[in-house]
Amino acid sequence: MKKIGVLTSGGDAPGMNAAIRAVVRKAIYHDLEVYGIKYGYQGLIDGNIEKMELGSVGDIIQRGGTKLYSARCEEFKTEAGQEKGIEQLKKHGIDGLVVIGGDGSFRGAKKLTEKGYPCIGVPGTIDNDIPGTDFTIGFDTALNTIIEAIDKIRDTATSHERTYVVEVMGRDAGDLALWAGLADGAETIMVPERNEDFDDVVQRLKRGHDRGKKHSIIIVAEGVGSGFDFGQRIKEATDLETRVTVLGHTQRGGSPTAADRVLASRLGAKAVDILLAGKAGRMVGIQNNELVDHDILEVLDQGHMLDMDMYKLSQELSI
Ligand code: F6P
Repeated sequence: MKKIGVLTSGGDAPGMNAAIRAVVRKAIYHDLEVYGIKYGYQGLIDGNIEKMELGSVGDIIQRGGTKLYSARCEEFKTEAGQEKGIEQLKKHGIDGLVVIGGDGSFRGAKKLTEKGYPCIGVPGTIDNDIPGTDFTIGFDTALNTIIEAIDKIRDTATSHERTYVVEVMGRDAGDLALWAGLADGAETIMVPERNEDFDDVVQRLKRGHDRGKKHSIIIVAEGVGSGFDFGQRIKEATDLETRVTVLGHTQRGGSPTAADRVLASRLGAKAVDILLAGKAGRMVGIQNNELVDHDILEVLDQGHMLDMDMYKLSQELSI
């Protein structure tokens, strides 16, 4: 292997830059040439590819977003799109590819591998919804962004004795909601993996209010539904003054935390190591603080699991 490519695909995540840096520097350390593919698979189809040097990734470890830009590309899901991508890889003499992204990006990487182009996936998404790794790049930063926002909401919620519904991202996964709820002592955490009884939520809010609680925080994962709809239902059922905040894309931005920078550096470097070891169609991950790699499809087929012990704990602590 002489030349490798790297791209970021799907929703961006803080720490992707640190992962790109690790891939580029580790590859150059091993005397490989590295090519950056801009705008994910769309850029691959369009041939938006340029050589990267040590300096190309200077001063980016601390930056959110992705230097290589990102896109969600429908065309790459088709055979024709994949063939166009392969033509570009051949044209540039690229022998292997590191794909930093989530579930959809990994399926594309597997397709390329099946067509003869070795790819390695690096899990980068704020959702933390990739099986085979305890954490994905960006999750820790997004979590800290949520917590900072909720701490602020708490101040005003107490001053006005209000109930706040905070909608957080996560797509179909409840990890951001659960971890943020536990870290912030939320009264209720609504996750798509569990069917919380609405009457229980209402009773808990009423009990808290009768006990003299100054405010309540309810975190709703977007996979459960709209925070605004939920807030309206709460207001009607409790008569408590209720406000709704949707944190939206603020959760995807910002400087990555130390944990995300370190994780991204370790995973990016590991991806290059396993490409050089002749592996393909694998994703790298971290489990029990050990770097691991798994077959991409086998791992995705396992489906994501929420940590139910943690969910139970959050309930026990918010009585
Ligand atoms: O996968 C990351 C994520 O931010 C999800 O949490 C969210 O559902 C989705 O992307 C939003 O996508 P977009 O930025 O395309 O609206």
